[in-house]
Amino acid sequence: MYVNVAVLKETQPHERRVALVPSVVPKLIKLGAKLHMQTGASHAIKLADAAFKDVAFIADRKDLVADADVVLAVQPPALDVIDAMKQGAILISFIYAEKEPALVQRLLDKKITCFAMERIPRISRAQSMDALSSQSALAGYYAIALGMTHMTSVLPKITSAAGVIGPAKVLVMGLGVAGLEAIATAQRLGAVVEGYDVRPATKEQALSLGATFVDTGVDATGKGGYARALTSEEKAKVDAALTRHIQASDLIITTAAIPGKASPKLINKAQVAGMKTGAVIVDLSADGGGNCDDTEPGQTTQVGAVTIVAPLNVPSLLGKDASELYAKNQYALLVLMMKDNIVTIDWTDEVIAKTALTHDGKLCDAEKAGSDPHAPPNSPAKAA
Ligand SMILES: NC(=O)c1ccc[n+]([C@@H]2O[C@H](COP(=O)([O-])OP(=O)(O)OC[C@H]3O[C@@H](n4cnc5c(N)ncnc54)[C@H](O)[C@@H]3O)[C@@H](O)[C@H]2O)c1
Repeated sequence: MYVNVAVLKETQPHERRVALVPSVVPKLIKLGAKLHMQTGASHAIKLADAAFKDVAFIADRKDLVADADVVLAVQPPALDVIDAMKQGAILISFIYAEKEPALVQRLLDKKITCFAMERIPRISRAQSMDALSSQSALAGYYAIALGMTHMTSVLPKITSAAGVIGPAKVLVMGLGVAGLEAIATAQRLGAVVEGYDVRPATKEQALSLGATFVDTGVDATGKGGYARALTSEEKAKVDAALTRHIQASDLIITTAAIPGKASPKLINKAQVAGMKTGAVIVDLSADGGGNCDDTEPGQTTQVGAVTIVAPLNVPSLLGKDASELYAKNQYALLVLMMKDNIVTIDWTDEVIAKTALTHDGKLCDAEKAGSDPHAPPNSPAKAA
């Protein structure tokens, strides 16, 4: 007996990641997997099919998934993939259900058990599976590198016989996983770093990384450790407190996000107009519309003397390392459901129950899941 696992080649534009890397192959085989991969799935990260030992390659994605018990991917798969899957098979990928109603309906119709990687609960036991964190950490690091390539000055203090160049001032706005990694990277490179977030709990984290914290006196800590949207009074207070810091910065990294909502605007046009000549903003929230009024998602633009860099899907730009961490996140999740060469789903496991999006033709309710181990895993809700 073994579990047939199929790994898709990503098809979304500019997506370079892949859900399986060679280092994870022996681990999955040890769990009882028989591995199949779509031909060329890892070519975007410069890995040839031959780099995957003990994996069978299939060119056509429908043939690939037809016999699969488990299908692995990074992005939500195309509808024809779901159509070709066995009824009752398992899909594990990012889904973002609110943006994919047709896909969710297909998952329900085909009775696919779908685990959506963005639903992994933020609890200690699930840290090894937390793909949002692993991918955000890489994005936070890369934001500094991107910013540097657009700056006309250096980050650290440099002393030469011709004189001394002072360190650059870096402001990181939004101190979740990406923001803290951006602070750590800028600190390592010798910049003078400030951090800001609407959750005051982040102050200690910024200080522990050697940055200072911009305290605006507004606390917008929301549900589950995430931020809530600001009221208009709070926004005005924050804007007044931040302007001086924004306009003194050489490089600003913005990462602010509110779950299920468009990115909050942290930098307005007037603040950009008053920024230093040559300053750079790297907006990591471009996928959600951006944190700056002048951001054009997916573009690098010049607004007066300021460069605004707003790349989409930043983890994909670091496809090799992002795939390595993502594949390990998925492996850690599979450990919970693969045992003795078969798939056994323990619906009383909080991580399993909260990560599940669809099962047996029903939508799963992450809010209720795990709260009562004797409750059925699914809400009777139907997809919109
Ligand atoms: N396993 C775990 O326990 C675990 C793992 C990862 C993250 N977390 C926690 O989850 C939470 C969210 O982390 P994330 O990286 O997903 O964050 P996120 O991507 O949801 O948001 C990024 C940051 O933007 C901030 N933000 C939102 N609106 C803002 C505004 N108007 N101005 C300034 N900042 C604003 C948020 O507070 C957050 O720190 C954090 O509390 C983090 O510590 C826990």
